[in-house]
Amino acid sequence: MSIQPAQESDFHAIVRLLDETALPHADLTPEHLAHFLVARDGDTVVGVVGMEARGDAALLRSLAVAADRRGGGWASRLVDALEARARESGIRTLYLLTTTAEGFFARRGYQSAERDAVPDAIRATEEFRGICPASAVCMARPLVPMAEPVPVS
Ligand SMILES: CC(C)(COP(=O)(O)OP(=O)(O)OC[C@H]1O[C@@H](n2cnc3c(N)ncnc32)[C@H](O)[C@@H]1OP(=O)(O)O)[C@@H](O)C(=O)NCCC(=O)NCCS
Repeated sequence: MSIQPAQESDFHAIVRLLDETALPHADLTPEHLAHFLVARDGDTVVGVVGMEARGDAALLRSLAVAADRRGGGWASRLVDALEARARESGIRTLYLLTTTAEGFFARRGYQSAERDAVPDAIRATEEFRGICPASAVCMARPLVPMAEPVPVS
């Protein structure tokens, strides 16, 4: 299995996986996939995670691993890879909403955050505005920027 950028041709497989895992996808379009990663076993998509970037903040969303592949560290690898890409593209804080995986993210350094403390641009995403239940916990994680190259004098 490997982790790769999602292709637009993965769209239906990703929607199926989100559907099977009861995660919201009503707002998802093929254009979103430019910021999505998939775990692939051969031709089969067995895991997914994505982000919606807004300035230097981003919403981490749509983390799902197929039921028969769980417990093998794939969600952890997907989140590691997404965080690395977020860092590379200048994202300083990742936000997310979850009803099911608070413990998973807490172990990865995400902390509960008041929704009022979330930047307006993140709160304006469809996931925040309605499709995620109001009972979902909001979490945030600051990303340490990649080391700046030391100037040579
Ligand atoms: C949550 C989910 C993505 C985890 O996938 P996974 O590939 O099994 O996760 P990993 O194998 O990387 O798990 C890493 C660790 O987190 C723990 N963990 C996994 N899911 C967890 C959860 N929901 N809550 C708390 N801890 C969890 C694992 O037990 C494992 O612990 P260990 O290192 O002590 O063995 C998967 O269960 C899933 O798709 N669930 C349905 C969709 C969902 O809830 N997504 C989250 C939306 S925000």
